[in-house]
Amino acid sequence: MRTEAGKKPLVYPQPVLIIGTYNDDGSIDVMNAAWGSVGDDHQVFLCLSAGHRTTKNILKRKAFTVQIAEESTLVQSDYVGIVSGNKESRKFEISGLHAEKSEHVDAPILTDYAISMECELESYEPEHCHLFGNIIRTTVDDRVLTDGKVDFEKLRPITFDIERAQYITLGKVAGKAFSAGKELIKN
Ligand SMILES: Cc1cc2nc3c(=O)[nH]c(=O)nc-3n(C[C@H](O)[C@H](O)[C@H](O)COP(=O)(O)O)c2cc1C
Repeated sequence: MRTEAGKKPLVYPQPVLIIGTYNDDGSIDVMNAAWGSVGDDHQVFLCLSAGHRTTKNILKRKAFTVQIAEESTLVQSDYVGIVSGNKESRKFEISGLHAEKSEHVDAPILTDYAISMECELESYEPEHCHLFGNIIRTTVDDRVLTDGKVDFEKLRPITFDIERAQYITLGKVAGKAFSAGKELIKN
């Protein structure tokens, strides 16, 4: 038996992406976005509602950063998803997060997160909230690297469970990609 779940987009795991932008006065805004993913080889896709301060900032500055939320930043990452910069001008300060200016795009790198992608706006379609950004530069804090590559057991990224409104830390390595299935290839 299978239970009907309507048309829910139960695509797991949903990443928890942390978006950094500059407000009109040069102060920083940060938001949590779980509707997002890879767009293309050098592109990210986000589904951002037009009313968010973040979306307005991106449309003005044509730039933003995308960070991957980590277990160690769960409280701050959730806070920036429940409070809007439209209403709380001290949002970034209250979050306790830290930032440095990107030298490549007009947006802040949020230094509490190990992975940061500095992006320029490619397109935004408000009706469906579809936003594409071109990645200009990606940086990774050495603290999450093993042999020069991102080590997810060090990064401990959190994912969003839409059904139970909770965050789940990505689990352990399950197998080798492009390899595990080979045992079913006969010739
Ligand atoms: C777990 C979680 C995921 C979210 N994902 C999205 C998303 O993908 N797109 C979106 O438009 N808003 C999303 N939100 C809501 C925004 O983060 C929230 O409205 C935030 O206050 C907007 O901040 P801003 O107005 O300062 O930009 C999410 C919130 C949470 C807690």
